[in-house]
Amino acid sequence: MTTRVALRRDAGRIGPESGPWIRQRQVAKIWGPPDPASLAQLVDHRDVVLGWGLLAPDADIPLRLVQFGDKPPAADWFERRLASALAARAGLGLGETLDTTAYREVNSEGDGLPGLVIDRYGDDRVVQLGTPAMTARRAAILEFLRPRTPGQIFVIAGEAAPDAAESVLEFREHGLWFSCPAPPAQKTGAYLDQRDNRRLAAGLAARAGGPLLDLGCHVGGFVVHAAAAGVRAVGLDQSARALSFARRNAARNDLTERTAFVQADMFGALDDPALAGPFGVIVFDPPRIATGSQGRERAVAAMARSLGRLVPRLAPGGFLLACSCSHHVGRADLDAALLGAGPHGFTRVHALGPGPDHPVWPGHVEGEYLRVNVYQRRDT
Ligand SMILES: C[S@@+](CC[C@H](N)C(=O)[O-])C[C@H]1O[C@@H](n2cnc3c(N)ncnc32)[C@H](O)[C@@H]1O
Repeated sequence: MTTRVALRRDAGRIGPESGPWIRQRQVAKIWGPPDPASLAQLVDHRDVVLGWGLLAPDADIPLRLVQFGDKPPAADWFERRLASALAARAGLGLGETLDTTAYREVNSEGDGLPGLVIDRYGDDRVVQLGTPAMTARRAAILEFLRPRTPGQIFVIAGEAAPDAAESVLEFREHGLWFSCPAPPAQKTGAYLDQRDNRRLAAGLAARAGGPLLDLGCHVGGFVVHAAAAGVRAVGLDQSARALSFARRNAARNDLTERTAFVQADMFGALDDPALAGPFGVIVFDPPRIATGSQGRERAVAAMARSLGRLVPRLAPGGFLLACSCSHHVGRADLDAALLGAGPHGFTRVHALGPGPDHPVWPGHVEGEYLRVNVYQRRDT
């Protein structure tokens, strides 16, 4: 029996442009077994079939659509989408050279596979099962990946369930060597979404003559890239574990002499002498500080306070990268945080996001999360 999710009369227009998420407040009733392993049918209040999706009956988003229209997806839709996601990365040139061996292979809704993330780290893969429907498909996912994975497969399901604590993932990024902790860890191990921005920032730092400061440096990506481009670089993080990997990554690339790391709170006083500046590039890359739209104003105010401490440490002509990895804090909010930091002459010179291995399905606005605004200090 097919489970059916019936919409309320006032659910609003549903179609590709409204995105794949159906929210609890739009749902009138769910008929049939609440089985996350099978596809559920979405119907409107007149019983017209609008699409097919993955069920999580008690969640805020009880249905994530995988196909619009009355026709159900083909029986092998799941394996076909996995294969298409991997082929799409090959089409982008990822995996072609040994220069970059870590990238996202499945980006949830962005690949038509809501709730599933698969990241490649060299020979290994990390699988994140974010919904009951994906947890129910664990065996099928592993069956698909095993013959294609020369190394280990780490699985994150629910709240930080460690499959292999203390393991290390190794990879290369634009020719540099990196390692990061395998799950349980931040993200799937490293922040792959900033890969191309790290290279861009390193180029800006080299042109500005350095040095670069990265607040929220994690395993040292921005720092190592800048040091490899020939300038001094300082990383700050509050996580001792992240910093131990950052130091190790600097050493692995023979860059220890040009790098320094500080354990501190990025929202704190920032009074360590290594943070005094002036810096040619400052990267402000905080964790997700607003999880809902209600937290937006507080997040902007906290960023403005920190940027207020940082902006005077930026050399004239230098670059500030202000990052938000919260869907609720957009580019205009980053602009507002900078304006709130004080009357400084800045222009926005780049509006960046994640790399092409983090695709967004048109209509799924929530899939838009990482924004990186690059400002240049002009002082005119
Ligand atoms: C979005 S990640 C930064 C990613 C990193 N820049 C990169 O390129 O890989 C945020 C980082 O901030 C760190 N962090 C979280 N809260 C912090 C705080 N209050 N002070 C300093 N670091 C913090 C986390 O440990 C994490 O490494």
